[in-house]
Amino acid sequence: MNHESQLMRLGLFDARVPRYTSYPTAPHFGGGVGSAEFTDWIQSVPAGSSISLYLHVPFCRRLCWFCACRTQGTSSEEPVRAYAQTLKAEIALLKRHLAPGITLSRLHWGGGTPTLLPADMMRDLADTIFDAVPMGPGAEFSVEIDPNEIDDARLDALAAAGMNRASIGVQDFDPEIQKTIGREQGYELTKRVADLIRARGVGSLNADILYGLPHQTRAKISDSVQKLLTLSPDRVALYGYAHVPWMSRRQQMIPSDAMPTPEERLRLFETARQLFTWDGYQEIGIDHFARPSDGMAIAARNGTLRRNFQGYTDDTAPILIGLGASSISRFPQGYAQNASGTSDHTKAIRDGRFSTHRGHVFAGEDLLRARIIEALMCDFRVNRAELIRDFGVTDQRLDALFGTAATAFQGWVDVDADGLAIPPKARPLARMIARAFDAYDQTKAQHSAAI
Ligand SMILES: C[S@@+](CC[C@H](N)C(=O)[O-])C[C@H]1O[C@@H](n2cnc3c(N)ncnc32)[C@H](O)[C@@H]1O
Ligand code: SF4
Repeated sequence: MNHESQLMRLGLFDARVPRYTSYPTAPHFGGGVGSAEFTDWIQSVPAGSSISLYLHVPFCRRLCWFCACRTQGTSSEEPVRAYAQTLKAEIALLKRHLAPGITLSRLHWGGGTPTLLPADMMRDLADTIFDAVPMGPGAEFSVEIDPNEIDDARLDALAAAGMNRASIGVQDFDPEIQKTIGREQGYELTKRVADLIRARGVGSLNADILYGLPHQTRAKISDSVQKLLTLSPDRVALYGYAHVPWMSRRQQMIPSDAMPTPEERLRLFETARQLFTWDGYQEIGIDHFARPSDGMAIAARNGTLRRNFQGYTDDTAPILIGLGASSISRFPQGYAQNASGTSDHTKAIRDGRFSTHRGHVFAGEDLLRARIIEALMCDFRVNRAELIRDFGVTDQRLDALFGTAATAFQGWVDVDADGLAIPPKARPLARMIARAFDAYDQTKAQHSAAI
């Protein structure tokens, strides 16, 4: 059996394997965390500490067929303005409960399409946020920008508010692929937007592209990556397209027979990976590339790379608070998720409480397993001495945990006195190996039994 077939047999590209942006993952959150717990957790954030904020805007002008994000289409400005008012009220509520002197490490606006906000609302929201939690030293303010949904006025507003990292959605430049995935966006437009962003002195540019798209070939992805390289992004997320039409109904518009085979998917990733590394980008974790001078590349080299709900991050703040419908927060105590629907979310805020409706309180081995999974996803290795120091776990317990993964992935993980490591040939399996440490994922047990 060749290398590719072995990887497939071990579950590579099984769309049900989590991306581990949290542990436990969101489907395993339960109902025991509500507004009261969330309020307690906010009140316990130490005065003078540093936190990060994520602000979710679940609206888009167009609904791209490929997109699996939680968002709703709107052709008018009204629901977006109404939602922005809710966000302002939510920030005011947050401010009321936060101790003094807390500053921001990272502020990220994501979606959906945050650039759907009119320029005056962007200014208003940014002012409200910075009044509640001012930017700390070295803080980063990043915004997801749909190149089809931005103009000079909105870019001026974002730049004036202090946006210092912009993230543009590219996906692929090939016209046939764009038509098939319901997202048409010419190279010229994308380049113009990248130039407009840079012209405003925004220091860093990120771009998202996808591999594994329908009709994608190695020649097509090479062409798209080369076009993307002409924009010289500081950071690139090369996500594997998740085709989950049973969860994301829009994806039913995409013909399944146009999808590349799992083997071809692996080759598409490899083709793009080589082009980025040849161009001097540093490979980061399972799906990112960055210029060596970029903060994420530096964090990866220093061993301080982290994983949160936005994917990889160089943010070191221990607390991330999610604002807006469906957003998730992480505290030392656990996770809290806001109501998914905008109307439920708005109703709670109008009633003067947070919309938190589910979450997870850390217990038992949660934090130990979370650290192991995060380390595998970020560094492809986990250090035994650090786990013993930070969690007081015994060598025997670690042997048992590592042993389970080593048995399920015999020959694909290295276990020794230092800890457990995923060798380069097994990196495509990182999510599957991480799943061996997931005590909540029951499908893994069936999977392990099958191999
Ligand atoms: C939430 S979207 C926001 C970006 C912005 N609205 C835009 O369209 O440019 C962020 C990124 O998620 C990624 N994404 C969305 N659906 C995906 C899927 N089914 N599989 C993998 N990545 C996906 C895309 O790369 C997209 O740029
Ligand atoms: S890719 Fe962006 S614009 Fe398209 S549906 Fe998803 S969030 Fe909306």
